[in-house]
Amino acid sequence: MIRQVAILAVAAFCLAASDPVHVKAPNNELALRLTYDLVWRTQRTGKLSKEVQDNVDPNFSIPDYLPTWPDKEALADFWARYQYGMLPPGAIFSIYHADQLEEAVSIFKVMHTAANPWLFFQFSVWAFKNVNREYWTYALNMAIMYRDDFKSMAMPSPHTIFPNYFFNTDVLHQLHTFRMDYQYEAIEGGENVHEVVVPGNYTNWYITGSMNPESNLTYYLEDPDLNNFYAYLHVESPFWMSSTMYNQLSHEFRGSVYFWVHHMLINRYRMERLSHRIPMMETVDWKQPIAMGYYPQMTYSNGLHFPRRDEWTKVPMFKHHHVQHLEKYESRVMEVAESGIVVERDGNLKHLNDAEGLNIFGNIVEGNNDSWNSFYYGSVDHLSRHILGFCLEPENKYQILPSALEHASTSMRDPGFYRIYDKIDDYYRTFMKRLGPYTKNELASPGITVTEASVSKLVTYFEYTNVFVTGVNRTADNKWVSFYVRQRRLNHHPFDINIKVHTDEATKASIRIFLGPKYDQYGRNMTDTSKYFYQVDYWVTDLKSGDNEIIRKSTEFTLSVVDHKNDEHFYKTVNKVVHGVDPVPKNPITTGFPNRLILPRGLPEGMKFQIFVDVRKFDETKAKTLKSRFFTKGITIDKPFGFPLDRPMKEYTFGLPNMHLFDAVIYYYADESKLNLTA
Ligand SMILES: *[C@@H]1O[C@H](CO)[C@@H](O)[C@H](O)[C@H]1NC(C)=O
Ligand SMILES: *[C@@H]1O[C@H](CO)[C@@H](O)[C@H](O)[C@H]1NC(C)=O
Ligand SMILES: *[C@@H]1O[C@H](CO)[C@@H](O)[C@H](O)[C@H]1NC(C)=O
Ligand SMILES: *[C@@H]1O[C@H](CO)[C@@H](O)[C@H](O)[C@H]1NC(C)=O
Ligand SMILES: *[C@@H]1O[C@H](CO)[C@@H](O)[C@H](O)[C@H]1NC(C)=O
Ligand SMILES: *[C@@H]1O[C@H](CO)[C@@H](O)[C@H](O)[C@H]1NC(C)=O
Repeated sequence: MIRQVAILAVAAFCLAASDPVHVKAPNNELALRLTYDLVWRTQRTGKLSKEVQDNVDPNFSIPDYLPTWPDKEALADFWARYQYGMLPPGAIFSIYHADQLEEAVSIFKVMHTAANPWLFFQFSVWAFKNVNREYWTYALNMAIMYRDDFKSMAMPSPHTIFPNYFFNTDVLHQLHTFRMDYQYEAIEGGENVHEVVVPGNYTNWYITGSMNPESNLTYYLEDPDLNNFYAYLHVESPFWMSSTMYNQLSHEFRGSVYFWVHHMLINRYRMERLSHRIPMMETVDWKQPIAMGYYPQMTYSNGLHFPRRDEWTKVPMFKHHHVQHLEKYESRVMEVAESGIVVERDGNLKHLNDAEGLNIFGNIVEGNNDSWNSFYYGSVDHLSRHILGFCLEPENKYQILPSALEHASTSMRDPGFYRIYDKIDDYYRTFMKRLGPYTKNELASPGITVTEASVSKLVTYFEYTNVFVTGVNRTADNKWVSFYVRQRRLNHHPFDINIKVHTDEATKASIRIFLGPKYDQYGRNMTDTSKYFYQVDYWVTDLKSGDNEIIRKSTEFTLSVVDHKNDEHFYKTVNKVVHGVDPVPKNPITTGFPNRLILPRGLPEGMKFQIFVDVRKFDETKAKTLKSRFFTKGITIDKPFGFPLDRPMKEYTFGLPNMHLFDAVIYYYADESKLNLTA
């Protein structure tokens, strides 16, 4: 009975759409609306809506376009691959498998170069019907974000497109049960129910596969916003993309941003560990047992489980040939860091010295498309993921079972991620160490004195939040039902950083704020801490001559973003957009590190950290703007990323007049009843 209702209802839903529209002349405006439908409805339901079907050109055929497609080579290449055979429908796709990536990119290239939205739409629907669904999703989203005519269109958060990469199987199982049984018609609230909330635990609540204290950190590792951020980071600068060709994240920053962002992610994670008094991370040696296990509780869309890695196991034999390559690449990369000499593809040697050198080095370590010699330096990044994920070696390129480390949106869930980037961070720091500490002259900014700096009370807590995952039009009465996962997430009270600056003359100044540890896990004084600081804020401002008082609110921090999701609203209004009632919503993605996670948890009795403030004259002559599609509207910098802590720094140098280092205590309000008290 229930099933019948469902089928009838689906039929009713299809019929309820507008009058059939006959295939018309190319209409770019309509194509935009229909593409919006593909993104917000087809990706979720796996079906083409009536509106889309009515507007598909039944005679669209690829060979017809071979002579006229703006990038003829791209279309011809795709067509040849397609006829030869590509990844079958239903198979799993990972961008870290080179053969599969090539195929997915060939689809992207066709979409990216379609002459107009109408052809883009026609090709996209054709591809939906004919290529692997995961390829389609990847190519479609990437193409939209890289096409000038689409790029400001509102896009769904990755966790709503691929919930199975963000939530555990047990959680999704509960959601599916609701949907399958239409239980929500029977639960409390009856006919009026239009919200279903399932409790969402993190990995390890049911079976703790380990006595490892890190199993207490899953709330951080599995935070959907953090993982969405990392997924977007990939979109911002996909390693396979040529930065000059696609005019994306400025060419001259790509490698340095790679190091800088991961440096911050690693250090932020270290602070979370400290908050639980967990010791520093161990270093992975590929020949020794890997201490850190990972027991994912996730499944692929085809029902297969993510591979796991037991604690204290050695790298399996079938990965040894990869280990041999990786160790070779690791030592070559370290040699570049220590010597500053790069071997180019033709055997010539080049010296890397300054910030530009760092950028080149970053590209080499990532092994991205801009790498000078990926033949010789490989990709330490990819190979490490491939080995540490412990995935089985595929029988053929179409039957892979990638590990969590082999997807941008799941890799940060595996604590192994941080071991890999700890090593990569070491190449970065070694490179910077070779350049040596900044001189006092470089660090000073005459005429600027930070007379005082302080912070309001820092309080963290956990809150329960309903995270929107998906929605359906309820069959019985066409009412929209939203599905949420209720998760316990780390957050903090808003806080202010107060900086008093005296200047000799009115000037433009740049201000940098960092947070770092004071004590180690045993509460002992920590030495050489500067490498453990992460940057929370950077901005350029005007200072007047004399005394200035700056009150910087945590919500204004530029390097993180405050939660403002409206996926649910967009999902609900797809119909209006498709029918032209509402315009296609513009919502350029502004993502970044979640502001909610900017502070580590700390301890109930308070835990001392340190805040470092650096104020200096802004040097207009050296100003460069980092253009970013997502993270900020663009930041203008006059110094390298992470300056001045990007080079080794002794604590006593923190004492220059334009810098200020002070203690900040973070209180974790474990007792949730205390939350309403004023801090
Ligand atoms: C598709 O092609 C057929 C035969 O070539 C033609 O009769 C038909 O009108 C075409 N349909 C459209 C919508 O152009
Ligand atoms: C979540 O985990 C807690 C223990 O950490 C357990 O008591 C609770 O039953 C779990 N909830 C669900 C819905 O699995
Ligand atoms: C996780 O945290 C709880 C509470 O602080 C503690 O009792 C437990 O020992 C920790 N688990 C591990 C494996 O360290
Ligand atoms: C870099 O990208 C260009 C353009 O897509 C491509 O032709 C080239 O093969 C890529 N190079 C590498 C090393 O991946
Ligand atoms: C840490 O260092 C400070 C100042 O350097 C000193 O006063 C304090 O006694 C030290 N604390 C410990 C636990 O060593
Ligand atoms: C649900 O279905 C009704 C009737 O077809 C339609 O009017 C409404 O817009 C749909 N809601 C959504 C969010 O798609």
